[in-house]
Amino acid sequence: MRAMNYRGPFRVRIEEKPMPEILHPNDAIIKVTRACICGSDLHLYHGLVPDTRVGSTFGHEFIGVVVEIGPSVQKLKIGDRVLVPFNISCGQCAFCKQGLYGNCHESNSMATAVGGIYGYSHTAGGYNGGQAEYVRVPYADVGPEIIPENMHQDDAVLLTDVVPTGYQAAEMGGIKTGDTVVVFGAGPIGIMAARCAWLFGATRVIVIDHIEYRLDFVKKYAPCEAYNYKSLGDPVRFIKKITDWFGADVCIDAVGSDASGSLLHTITGKKLLLQAGAATALHWAVNSVKKGGIVSIVGVYGPTDNLVPIGNVVNKGITIRANQTSVKRLLPRLIEHVQNGVIDPKPLITHRIPLQEVSEAYRIFSSKLDNCIKPVLIP
Ligand SMILES: NC(=O)c1ccc[n+]([C@@H]2O[C@H](COP(=O)([O-])OP(=O)(O)OC[C@H]3O[C@@H](n4cnc5c(N)ncnc54)[C@H](O)[C@@H]3O)[C@@H](O)[C@H]2O)c1
Ligand SMILES: [Zn+2]
Ligand SMILES: [Zn+2]
Repeated sequence: MRAMNYRGPFRVRIEEKPMPEILHPNDAIIKVTRACICGSDLHLYHGLVPDTRVGSTFGHEFIGVVVEIGPSVQKLKIGDRVLVPFNISCGQCAFCKQGLYGNCHESNSMATAVGGIYGYSHTAGGYNGGQAEYVRVPYADVGPEIIPENMHQDDAVLLTDVVPTGYQAAEMGGIKTGDTVVVFGAGPIGIMAARCAWLFGATRVIVIDHIEYRLDFVKKYAPCEAYNYKSLGDPVRFIKKITDWFGADVCIDAVGSDASGSLLHTITGKKLLLQAGAATALHWAVNSVKKGGIVSIVGVYGPTDNLVPIGNVVNKGITIRANQTSVKRLLPRLIEHVQNGVIDPKPLITHRIPLQEVSEAYRIFSSKLDNCIKPVLIP
């Protein structure tokens, strides 16, 4: 089969690989019909995630058709159209039982923090991902959901990560009626977090980025205020100024370790690799939330250290909430929201690119070319 293949930082290509096989009675094999590239894949692509092995296939946002099932699989049958959460979860460990499907204790033998994730380096279990014609899905009775008959495939693929992650970002922010929410990052995740902030009762939503076409998009889509940090001088001072000098009630970091905006962080985090990428957006979030406020982090940071202003967290009495999204926990509610039109995910997909052109797709998305918000690969 053809699959995306990682060759080293900034180098991916399509290659012939062996067909995935059933390795456990509860595995299924899925023929992929759509697979998105995520901002999280860019951390891998930019060489920021430890133990990203040459030869691995990325892709944790995919949907497809079941073509083979192991002997113990009960929930799925051949021919079912499924959407597959990006987390690999056993459904039975103490963490899965609490709904912490992103922190499954069984699916990632390489770590005790994050559970398994498709196509996300050996720090997330070493599974191959779905940017391929076929993919092996372990714990097939746990993760995959049948795609409702009337659901658009683009909506379905965005339910594997983007919609739940944007929603959980807002949920972890503990947003209350009347709150001002600032979202750092106008990528797909920040856009969806801004959209979902309203569902929790925010009365003001502000998005910060530096890419104009994304700011234009989120302004209309969320809808919200949107500012280019390059024109603000000091973004923290600007946010304080427009919030009566108190700061925002809730700040969401939807950027993660690949942030721009600080020379210091760029040099220490992305050039010299003295810290795990650049925590610039997290700095801004901590410094521009009000005293007693909440910072919600969905932007991904690696297992190694980052320079974070922990003194300000203590002295301002900030609550920090963060996690990988528990997609399975949120799916029933979010499938309903999409079906009722409360959330309309598909406008985020701006590019439909044949799997064959995967290296071009990564280049466009990574360099934010051609007004790209979210690319989907079609095998
Ligand atoms: N926690 C989870 O479960 C989960 C799931 C999916 C994605 N993520 C993470 O969410 C983050 C965003 O993902 P995405 O797909 O939207 O990525 P993306 O790369 O498309 O978007 C990131 C955006 O952040 C902007 N940005 C860079 N530096 C900034 C700064 N200092 N302040 C404000 N904006 C800045 C970029 O210009 C870009 O538009 C990534 O870190 C990704 O790994 C986490
Ligand atoms: Zn993703
Ligand atoms: Zn588990």
